[in-house]
Amino acid sequence: RIDRALRPKGLAEYIGQPAVREQMEIFVSAARARGEALDHVLIFGPPGLGKTTLAHVIANEMQVGFRQTSGPVLERPGDLAALLTNLEPNDVLFIDEIHRLAPVVEEVLYPALEDYQIDIVIGEGPAARSIKLDLPPFTLVGATTRAGALTSPLRDRFGIVQRLEFYSQADLGTIVGRSAAILGVEIAEGGTAELARRARGTPRVANRLLRRVRDYAEVKADGRVSEAVAARAMDMLKVDDNGFDVMDRKLLGALVETFEGGPVGVDSLAAAIGEARETIEDVIEPYLIQQGFMMRTPRGRVATPTAYRYHGLPAPGGGPDAP
Ligand code: ADE
Repeated sequence: RIDRALRPKGLAEYIGQPAVREQMEIFVSAARARGEALDHVLIFGPPGLGKTTLAHVIANEMQVGFRQTSGPVLERPGDLAALLTNLEPNDVLFIDEIHRLAPVVEEVLYPALEDYQIDIVIGEGPAARSIKLDLPPFTLVGATTRAGALTSPLRDRFGIVQRLEFYSQADLGTIVGRSAAILGVEIAEGGTAELARRARGTPRVANRLLRRVRDYAEVKADGRVSEAVAARAMDMLKVDDNGFDVMDRKLLGALVETFEGGPVGVDSLAAAIGEARETIEDVIEPYLIQQGFMMRTPRGRVATPTAYRYHGLPAPGGGPDAP
């Protein structure tokens, strides 16, 4: 991953998410002072906000080993057992997309989390036997875009739950400045601000825009990212003033025009714009909702007056709740 160079190693370098940082500093210090494994940590929030980064930071701060896998990769109980039995004491095991664990694998995880033990069934039929294995103490760090998709027995086994929020423009500016310094990109203050403003509140987007803007500056200008060069590059990339990309605009267009502001079900929206429902739910709409362009209601998705204004249309009568 080329992103690795840009990842902060410790909490001191970690920008933004002040509540998360403050809490994790305390919980990590306490666990380290006791010589214990940190409690299991669930991290949730939209893609690109640094869930994997935070998991690495936790392992670095704990000064323990780091193992990584993801929910869909663990097909059978033995896949998880192999990982768990190879951990060193107090290691971090990171499971990305933990809401996609198979139920049979999740069941192996419960006693592992609670008692550092697993029950393994060997053999089949009448000859099958169950053996108990002791595990070293460890920390599970689970990440998911949707905390609501976790079963409650799994969610209940995390002692620490952290929700990552979209980053402020100020924090994104600091991240862009830091990344530019690491990549050796000369960027003006106005260029940094322009990127921060259009990065959808998301460090991964900010870092991606920075790389593309650097390309643009090297080929179309003198390599320096001025505010004007940044703005031109982002026009070329079809990232607008709000930081919305082609998919954001397609979704808003369908919502405001095709479905006349809603309410409309997410499956109808997905069909209209040719995107997977999960992409809409996990990637596209969280930012549009956070920015106040649409709402999730029990009857479906609804455009807000802000979305109408963005489309240059007058908002209908009594706003989003009008019939
Ligand atoms: N890169 C991605 N996320 C970051 C963060 N929170 N702080 C610093 N650099 C980052």
